[in-house]
Amino acid sequence: SRILVLHGPNLNLLGSREPEHYGSQTLADIDQALKEQGAASGVVVETFQSNAESKLVDRIHQARTEGVGFIIINPAAYTHTSVALRDALAGVAIPFIEVHLSNVHARESFRHHSYFSDLAVGVISGLGAMGYLFALGYALNAMEE
Ligand code: DQA
Repeated sequence: SRILVLHGPNLNLLGSREPEHYGSQTLADIDQALKEQGAASGVVVETFQSNAESKLVDRIHQARTEGVGFIIINPAAYTHTSVALRDALAGVAIPFIEVHLSNVHARESFRHHSYFSDLAVGVISGLGAMGYLFALGYALNAMEE
């Protein structure tokens, strides 16, 4: 079984985008670290970024036919807006962890609500890129059981 990591809109700009909130690592750096951590446990980690809601929905649907056992998702701005992505995750019924680089609760009030958190296995927010690695560690452990 594999693990799918999904990154929402604007995360392709990581490294240069508001580094005070999102750190200096690029998305390629983060994806590579995740693939290496997965490989060390013999699990394929696939990563996908899109700025388009429909492409993320389609990728979630595809995951069901690919035998993805766990999803790690940073829905980025769609966290606060997207019933469609929420419904896609509920529809495929693949367990997922919600990750945010920044602590969304320490920021503007419109970032305090998430359409995902009540469906997620867990939520990590504010731990930067390490949040993805912690989420992957949990997923690898959960899939072993
Ligand atoms: C984010 C937080 C969101 O509020 C924001 O829209 C993002 C990134 C984070 O990783 O901290 O694009 O999900």
